[in-house]
Amino acid sequence: MTFALVIHRLVILLCLQLFPTIVETYHNISLGSSLIASDDNSSWLSPSGDFAFGFQRIGTEGFLLSIWFNNIPEKTIVWYARTRTETLLQKGSKVELTNGGDFLLYDNQGLETWNSFKHRVAYASMLDTGNFVLINEDFVTIWQSFGDQTDTILPTQILDRGTESVLVSRHTQTNYSRGRFQLQLQPDGNLELYAAYDPSVAAPIYWESSTKQTGFQLVFNQSGHIYLTQTNGSILINLTPANVTSTSNFYHRATLDYDGVLRQYVYPKISMTGETSGVPKSWFTVWSVPPDICSSLKDPWGSGACGYNSYCRQDENQRPTCECPPGYNYTDPSNKLGGCSPNFVPQSCSASSQEAHLFDMKEIPQTDFAGHDYENLISITEESCKEACLNDCLCAIALFRDEVCWKKGFPFTNGIMEVGMSGKIMVKVGRENFSHHSDNDLNNDHTSTKIFIKQLLLSGSMAINLIFMSATILFTMWRYHNRTQKVLPYMLDMNVQAFTYKELALATNSFKEELGRGASATVYKAVLASGQRHIAAGRLDLLVEDDEEVIDDMKRLEKLVMIAIWCIQEEPTLRPTMYKVTQMLEGVVDVCVPPNPCTIPTSD
Ligand SMILES: *[C@@H]1O[C@H](CO)[C@@H](O)[C@H](O)[C@H]1NC(C)=O
Ligand SMILES: *[C@@H]1O[C@H](CO)[C@@H](O)[C@H](O)[C@H]1NC(C)=O
Ligand SMILES: *[C@@H]1O[C@H](CO)[C@@H](O)[C@H](O)[C@H]1NC(C)=O
Ligand SMILES: *[C@@H]1O[C@H](CO)[C@@H](O)[C@H](O)[C@H]1NC(C)=O
Ligand SMILES: *[C@@H]1O[C@H](CO)[C@@H](O)[C@H](O)[C@H]1NC(C)=O
Ligand SMILES: *[C@@H]1O[C@H](CO)[C@@H](O)[C@H](O)[C@H]1NC(C)=O
Ligand SMILES: *[C@@H]1O[C@H](CO)[C@@H](O)[C@H](O)[C@H]1NC(C)=O
Ligand SMILES: *[C@@H]1O[C@H](CO)[C@@H](O)[C@H](O)[C@H]1NC(C)=O
Repeated sequence: MTFALVIHRLVILLCLQLFPTIVETYHNISLGSSLIASDDNSSWLSPSGDFAFGFQRIGTEGFLLSIWFNNIPEKTIVWYARTRTETLLQKGSKVELTNGGDFLLYDNQGLETWNSFKHRVAYASMLDTGNFVLINEDFVTIWQSFGDQTDTILPTQILDRGTESVLVSRHTQTNYSRGRFQLQLQPDGNLELYAAYDPSVAAPIYWESSTKQTGFQLVFNQSGHIYLTQTNGSILINLTPANVTSTSNFYHRATLDYDGVLRQYVYPKISMTGETSGVPKSWFTVWSVPPDICSSLKDPWGSGACGYNSYCRQDENQRPTCECPPGYNYTDPSNKLGGCSPNFVPQSCSASSQEAHLFDMKEIPQTDFAGHDYENLISITEESCKEACLNDCLCAIALFRDEVCWKKGFPFTNGIMEVGMSGKIMVKVGRENFSHHSDNDLNNDHTSTKIFIKQLLLSGSMAINLIFMSATILFTMWRYHNRTQKVLPYMLDMNVQAFTYKELALATNSFKEELGRGASATVYKAVLASGQRHIAAGRLDLLVEDDEEVIDDMKRLEKLVMIAIWCIQEEPTLRPTMYKVTQMLEGVVDVCVPPNPCTIPTSD
């Protein structure tokens, strides 16, 4: 036995002597005990019932081996086993204290998935402090949850100086995988909050106690006060205000929340009288650091307090929220800290001169995205700043402040919105609501047609006429289709009819050029020509009868008919994407003469 172990044992025995009350709270979990993850919530309770150790169900995804406040409806988790895979455990997983003194956690496949303690455990105990302990025959604590912190500390728990004791935030409120934020009392005595994206990357510190050389322990004492001590035990910094509510009437905890803020919370215990009567039953924040993480977490390499392409704002409860710029959505809707992605196809540098029309600049006032600008323009007006970004295919946002324009590309970082901030951000946003679909998304299904019909219905008084026209066109094509299959020479006849369409186009002074454009154009003309017979299409104006509004806008009608024919092409790859359709409707691109849908030999 080493000297250290002897000392350790002596200290334990001494403590047992000095604090006999703690001994009384021991509730032995004896050898041969086990718990199985299931919906009957079986757990090992502390003597008071305040804390439970066992499997808690997390949503529908699975279970966590955890310790929780058992006497409140929230069953707030204060510790959880970080398994090898950091995934939730499935029904049937088992924690067992074997007759041989092994303490083991198996997943539902029977694989050991956490720390194992073999041949050494005499008994285990869930204490009233919230500490779960494994004790050997010499009454030495060989493992305790208080020494294996996750994201929460409780009264009587201590964080030691060094690299062992570290609080790590969880991924989101309901996802217990490791998050980005850590709290550690560094070996040099400085208590630091930092954002650790990756252990190999320099982590930005966003709050510190400034106690280098002097800090020794972070203590959460029995009466609910958290403070930093120095080696001789005297208090360096009090984090908890002196007037904090007592631990006899309130549950206390301090948690490094998933948003990166360290908060001390209190929750009234069940009691109808005294301090807690009339106090709503929920967790109240006593204090938190940093006071404003949005402005404290400036990160030269990473994304800032929020994820990439999003900005941080303190809400009315002084909690940080991460928000997306207009035209952007959360990349992962279940994780608002995970950043945002554009809803539209970002501007491409391969065709920027064309595409600039398809984008708008939207303003977000009192906002900044610090760092990562690739160009700045000085002595410039706001309007020119907007234009400069709009016409630069690399520019995703521009920051304008004091006649200076900073251009930034993707991703944008360190976003913050704050009242009184002097600059404003201008975000380049795709004009189309549909444009987030990739070009292939809609080609092969009927969605484009459906949306198109909806567009037509929404386009005003012409709707009825257009439906009639579409039906006519379809009917015509059906007739034509039947004929082409039977009589090939009829095609030649159609070529003559095509000239009729040319006449029409010339009459309206448009589509002149397209007409000469090869075989498909010729076919299209045949369709209209054959359609004319059925409506006795020689003129489109006959189709719309007395609708003067439409007759006044024949050019637009013609265009709509052509778009309609594009949309009903038999060959799916010829159908335009909805993006293209909206471009055509808005006149951003010209509408080419569509081919006859029936002449593509796909079905034969
Ligand atoms: C707990 O178990 C140990 C080992 O079996 C035993 O020595 C001790 O007396 C027990 N304590 C209580 C409070 O039951
Ligand atoms: C287990 O806990 C859940 C949530 O607290 C509760 O809805 C359910 O009734 C409990 N099941 C049993 C068997 O106690
Ligand atoms: C929690 O987040 C991690 C990291 O994004 C992810 O891999 C994991 O699937 C999530 N777990 C659950 C239960 O959603
Ligand atoms: C806990 O710390 C506070 C503030 O330093 C002190 O007033 C109180 O007496 C301490 N409680 C215990 C049990 O040491
Ligand atoms: C602890 O040390 C500091 C300075 O090192 C001193 O000011 C303080 O009085 C000491 N406290 C005790 C209890 O010795
Ligand atoms: C404690 O004191 C602070 C000011 O120091 C005050 O803002 C807070 O409301 C007080 N809390 C309670 C519970 O009295
Ligand atoms: C999409 O359309 C809606 C309603 O017309 C509008 O409020 C929204 O700003 C549009 N989105 C974009 C990215 O332009
Ligand atoms: C973006 O979010 C809005 C509002 O939550 C939602 O209506 C819209 O469908 C989302 N867009 C995409 C592309 O996910």
